[in-house]
Amino acid sequence: MKVLVVGSGGREHVICWKLAQSARVDEIYCAPGNGGIAKIATCVPIKATEIDKLVDYAKEGAFDLVFVAPEDPLALGLVDRLEEAGVRAFGPSAAAAIVESSKAFSKNLMKKYNIPTAKYELFDDEAKAFEYLESQKMPIVIKCDGLALGKGVIIAQTLDEAKDAVRSMMEDKAFGDAGNTIVIEECMTGPELTILAFSDGNTAVPMVSSRDHKRAYDHDEGLNTGGMGAVTPGADLYPEDIEAINNKIIRPTIEALAAEGRTFKGVLYFGLMLTDEGAKVVEYNCRFGDPEVQAILPLLENDFMDVIDAVIDGHLADVDIRWKNKCSCVVVMASGGYPKSYAKGYKIEGIDTCGKIVFQAGTAIDGNGDTVTSGGRVLCVYDEGDTLDEAIDGAYEGVKKISFTDAHYRTDIGRTLGNIGHIKA
Ligand code: AMP
Ligand code: GLY
Repeated sequence: MKVLVVGSGGREHVICWKLAQSARVDEIYCAPGNGGIAKIATCVPIKATEIDKLVDYAKEGAFDLVFVAPEDPLALGLVDRLEEAGVRAFGPSAAAAIVESSKAFSKNLMKKYNIPTAKYELFDDEAKAFEYLESQKMPIVIKCDGLALGKGVIIAQTLDEAKDAVRSMMEDKAFGDAGNTIVIEECMTGPELTILAFSDGNTAVPMVSSRDHKRAYDHDEGLNTGGMGAVTPGADLYPEDIEAINNKIIRPTIEALAAEGRTFKGVLYFGLMLTDEGAKVVEYNCRFGDPEVQAILPLLENDFMDVIDAVIDGHLADVDIRWKNKCSCVVVMASGGYPKSYAKGYKIEGIDTCGKIVFQAGTAIDGNGDTVTSGGRVLCVYDEGDTLDEAIDGAYEGVKKISFTDAHYRTDIGRTLGNIGHIKA
């Protein structure tokens, strides 16, 4: 088979890497890819949001499958366009990808179908939002409705901070049109957990649980980032906890979307908070999480292409999805300054000699054939082990052997998890 993967991060690197292990895949292309992907796939200089060009390229190249990994092309309807053009594609339609592209849609869906989430109100009028805030307890959470690279969420400790957040979104347009409508919601507390599920529209199969580390610095300090590292499992869950999350959150979400005429085929991401009142949804994403998937996919024992086919063709219920009985960890190495501004073009040493699997994100190959930094999150180092500590120690051994100017990484990925015991799901 000839496959095209759309995207350019660590997520797309692990997808290409896993596809390369499939007995059924002969050729892998990636648009636009990165310095690491270029070593295992043919990179094509088309951006993930250049929908027309991607459709033409996929049609002309007679691809057997296009795997659309990032949220932007999904929200722009790339999968719909490919299907119209007769090209087989993995990922949700734009109608289903709305679970990520509109938080207002998702909150209303959860309310309508009794899926547990924080209490909320929606506003498209600043004065009304201010009036509402006056009557609320602090802290409170302000979110813009649309896509904002994971940055359109502010947890305000005081009324003034809350009003500033509303002003920055609605008046100053800090996130452009994404802030035309805002969500104001109750602040929840508890450990966070990510559950990704394959969905064929009727059947959802949860993957191993994982945990992201969103803040830039140790002890969850600093700004929110795309994610600085991940581990799996994300918590010591009992089988009945997973069952409860499946019954109260995962299955009802898939059924709700089908009932709304927005059948979801692809990977649905459940960002959960394990509160005293049970697990509640913080957010949905319409795709694999990055860096969570770099910790998850290496543990998949099936031929990835068999799972992809089952999702597209609607026979997930017939597939026995198996995972290695291991823990895993990925530690992200970022450019100094990320998530704010940072320099690019620094030579990276040690990727091939660190003894660990490295998934690259913001890298490029320069004129001398050297791998250099070209983005905020540069790469992540993977390891697995019989215990979480073994996996974490292994990943950090690799990190210490890789260097580039101003490299920044967290030193506590997975270290603060603790045993959370039984959750009230
Ligand atoms: P989101 O982009 O919606 O996942 O939000 C980003 C991060 O903000 C989450 O991972 C949480 O850490 C935090 N967050 C979002 N909503 C809430 C909430 N209602 N209560 C507490 N923390 C939240
Ligand atoms: N790691 C969080 C995300 O992919 O949205």
